[in-house]
Amino acid sequence: MKPKGLICAGGEATRLGELTRVANKHLLPVGRWPMIYYPLQLLQQAGIGDVLLVTGKGHAGQMIDLLGDGLLAPRGGGDPILELDLTYKVQTEPGGIAQVVGMAQDFAAGAPLVVVLGDNIFEYAQSEPIADWGDDARGAQIFVKNVPDPENFGVVVYDEEGHVTDIVEKAGVVDMRYPEPPSSHAVVGLYCYPPDVFDVIGTLEPSSRGELEITDVNRYYALEGRLRAHEVKGWWEDAGKHWQHLAEIGRVIEATGVNK
Ligand code: G1P
Repeated sequence: MKPKGLICAGGEATRLGELTRVANKHLLPVGRWPMIYYPLQLLQQAGIGDVLLVTGKGHAGQMIDLLGDGLLAPRGGGDPILELDLTYKVQTEPGGIAQVVGMAQDFAAGAPLVVVLGDNIFEYAQSEPIADWGDDARGAQIFVKNVPDPENFGVVVYDEEGHVTDIVEKAGVVDMRYPEPPSSHAVVGLYCYPPDVFDVIGTLEPSSRGELEITDVNRYYALEGRLRAHEVKGWWEDAGKHWQHLAEIGRVIEATGVNK
């Protein structure tokens, strides 16, 4: 079955301070586009046309005003920016990324699922590894990137043969088993899941921050030997991290291109 797409665009975005008191993080400008265009375009470039977008309660209306049914022509004419078949769902209480993935069960209807966080932006759409995984989609696939600030992310632990043995969410803050991050390989916000992901989510317990953690889903597949970790090609940014990033990422996009 052809994979479907999910964009997780809920959350409170407290890290962006004054910018997100009223405005939705995913609608803030990053370069010439609102942030949310980039993960949507990634799915399109990776060949995924059927996409569910989950937003928080206060902003669903604006999101629908902006994106409509998923066919988005640029102002002033020209080729469409997006040509997707979009479905929407509203997350009424923030409960973690894994909870949002769980909301996609009926939408997925037995298909594998490619999940992108609404604030994650990539130089390359990672189309090849997504297509390779989608051929049989028996296991899960995550993408990792070496970062200077692993304490802000989920990170992977490898054994000598390079197999993922564990995944640790924000060491010392969310996952108390490790006071410091055990590696600098961050798990980025792009995940590929087989159809049984909803059974896995059904077994999860909330973490120390009261959320269903996507890291716990990934750890389940790692321990089962059904997780592939792929190095991200090109640059990757979590645009929700800090306000200073927004303008910087916009400049990088103009210089290098995005979702290539
Ligand atoms: C989430 C995930 C984390 C991942 C990060 C990537 O964190 O929980 O594992 O490394 O996205 O952007 P959040 O940014 O929601 O705190």
